[in-house]
Amino acid sequence: MPYSFSRRTDWPSGENELALLLKSMLSRGEQVIDLTLANPTRAGLAYDQERLLSALASADSLVYAPLPCGLLRTREAVSAYYAGKGITVAPERLLLTAGTSEAYSFLFRLLTEPGDKVLVPAPGYPLFSFLADLNDVSVEHYRLRFEEGRWRIDFESLEGLLGPHARTVILVSPNNPTGSCISRDELLQLNRLCAAHSASIISDEVFCDYLFPGQEASFGSLAGNEEVLSFALGGISKALALPQMKLAWIAANGPRDVLTEALSRLEVIADTYLSVSTPVQHAAVKWLADMPVFSSMVLERVTGNYTFLCGELARSKAGECFPVQGGWYAMVHREGLCADENWALGLLAQERISVHPGYFFDMPSEDFIVLSLLPEPSCFQEGVRRLCRRMGGVHRS
Ligand SMILES: Cc1ncc(COP(=O)(O)O)c(C=O)c1O
Repeated sequence: MPYSFSRRTDWPSGENELALLLKSMLSRGEQVIDLTLANPTRAGLAYDQERLLSALASADSLVYAPLPCGLLRTREAVSAYYAGKGITVAPERLLLTAGTSEAYSFLFRLLTEPGDKVLVPAPGYPLFSFLADLNDVSVEHYRLRFEEGRWRIDFESLEGLLGPHARTVILVSPNNPTGSCISRDELLQLNRLCAAHSASIISDEVFCDYLFPGQEASFGSLAGNEEVLSFALGGISKALALPQMKLAWIAANGPRDVLTEALSRLEVIADTYLSVSTPVQHAAVKWLADMPVFSSMVLERVTGNYTFLCGELARSKAGECFPVQGGWYAMVHREGLCADENWALGLLAQERISVHPGYFFDMPSEDFIVLSLLPEPSCFQEGVRRLCRRMGGVHRS
């Protein structure tokens, strides 16, 4: 009898053509400018090595005394991180996980039955469909619309999807890739809609420490949302630009009775895995105290690159950049661009730059591309110049 595998992992096998070409160019030693870079540890940032590593060398780490929700002192440090943003989150409302993806899995396990749908934004982060498959649910996209200078939730499309088997709404704020944050008005409307359907909200706020200058007031964390059962996600992969350390958290909130039940069920899920490492939990207490140092280093990088990008697009008239409220990404638009896979392959082969075509992010048309704002500035600038040259050469429809 042949071996069998679960249908959950029946994904198309192999890498896409773009990834294969990039790999073969790099293996031949060719210089490629990667404008999709998502890994801050490869972005030439000046991490304080000694300080980071010494925090890991604590004798406390030699003792195994696990708590399902995570060590109290670490949850207190996360609570202090929220206090720094003016939000009160008691450590009892926090649960630590080994990364945001694990937090999503725990929440899908908590909130959904097999076959249910989770509602995710489009444009949005492409990992959701894999996370959903692995948890026996599927994704449905509600739309974000660009109106009056900013991306907003299309409530009509969201309302049309909510139902007895679709009662988990995912928000990403600031969103990857639109860089938009949910406004207070939108949150009021979202709460009304979710309360009417007894729907829960998962709010991915991993980029909330990267609000662009002047946008500080535009972000509201759902860690403070008492109206509806809500789970705000954060983590050091973005807050401290340390994805390799694998520490994230869920800040739960909502009406008291349902919140208490959700927390006790989540605790059992977490107790089944106990996945967050003790040394990282101890070190994170010290790292989080240095959070402003990390975030200002990265914020300076992404805002500097964004300013250059907007200037270069305007100067070359190659396209326009959507306004970014926060995060590490920017979306470039050019009417009639047709940025499909072939276009991205041509860009890589001829200009030696790698970008994300918009369809990766469920964009409504192909005249968008997404750029990471993380690369080292001289690489980023050269990449953007080549991109503008190429886009300028595309026939405008
Ligand atoms: C919106 C969003 N959420 C979560 C993550 C992943 O976070 P983690 O490394 O904590 O799993 C990413 C990674 O790029 C992301 O873009």
